Amino acid sequence: MSTAKKEYPRVTVKSLTEMKLLKEKIAMLTAYDYSMARIVDEAGIDAILVGDSAANVMAGFETTLPITLDQMIYHASSVVRAVQRALVIVDLPFGSYQSDPKQALRSAIRIMKESGASGIKLEGGHEIKDSIERILHAGIPVMGHLGLTPQSINKFGTYKVRAKESDEAEQLKKDAQMLEEIGCFAIVLEKVPAKLAKEVADSLQIPIIGIGAGNGVDGQVLVIHDMLGITNEFNPRFLRRYADLHQEMITAFDAYRKDVKSGSFPNAKEQY
Ligand code: KIV
Repeated sequence: MSTAKKEYPRVTVKSLTEMKLLKEKIAMLTAYDYSMARIVDEAGIDAILVGDSAANVMAGFETTLPITLDQMIYHASSVVRAVQRALVIVDLPFGSYQSDPKQALRSAIRIMKESGASGIKLEGGHEIKDSIERILHAGIPVMGHLGLTPQSINKFGTYKVRAKESDEAEQLKKDAQMLEEIGCFAIVLEKVPAKLAKEVADSLQIPIIGIGAGNGVDGQVLVIHDMLGITNEFNPRFLRRYADLHQEMITAFDAYRKDVKSGSFPNAKEQY
């Protein structure tokens, strides 16, 4: 049964602002391929993030840094082909926007032109303000990302909760305010104290989508492989698993292996 306050045949960046106004929470998941994105869309998830977490869960890298712009475009165009309703947002990968605003704009334009997505996300605040403005001036919707920003793992040195100290919390609030003022349509807040995240969400008009940021924000995002229990070795406190696909897949593969070995697959009806 739908719990939506309003039906959105096609979710746009404006729909997300409206959902916040209507106090309807926004449900977002990551996806990186056609088949998964089709199921996510069919389930009525509002927004799909083609995250650079593809570097971890699709390619097996330890950090998100190695994924390239070409690889992000490949994942994003696969997702866009699958989706009829959800808003599709794509991460600008590490190294594709940090040099200068012109590089950032070129990368964002490539994503929009070559994948057909509806907007981009990038990590950071005041230090990349000029680049974000440049992208926004080209008419490309931008989602910010503050708090734990995995592309800066080598600076932080850890994936622990961010902005627990007042200096960092104050800077985060200023950055969030600035992102709204320059025209970002939403912000992801990752792994920050719930009280701080709620304060930010309450003080802004644009939606705040949390991951490990508590329940006082306007929506939630999870990495799909984590919430499906495919990656069973990743167990942060904020993660709720909605399935144990790791075990279910092992059971299915094991049954298939046994059937092949015993010669019971294929049977008479499964051949021509
Ligand atoms: O890349 C990603 O999946 C993300 C989410 C964790 C927000 O940025």
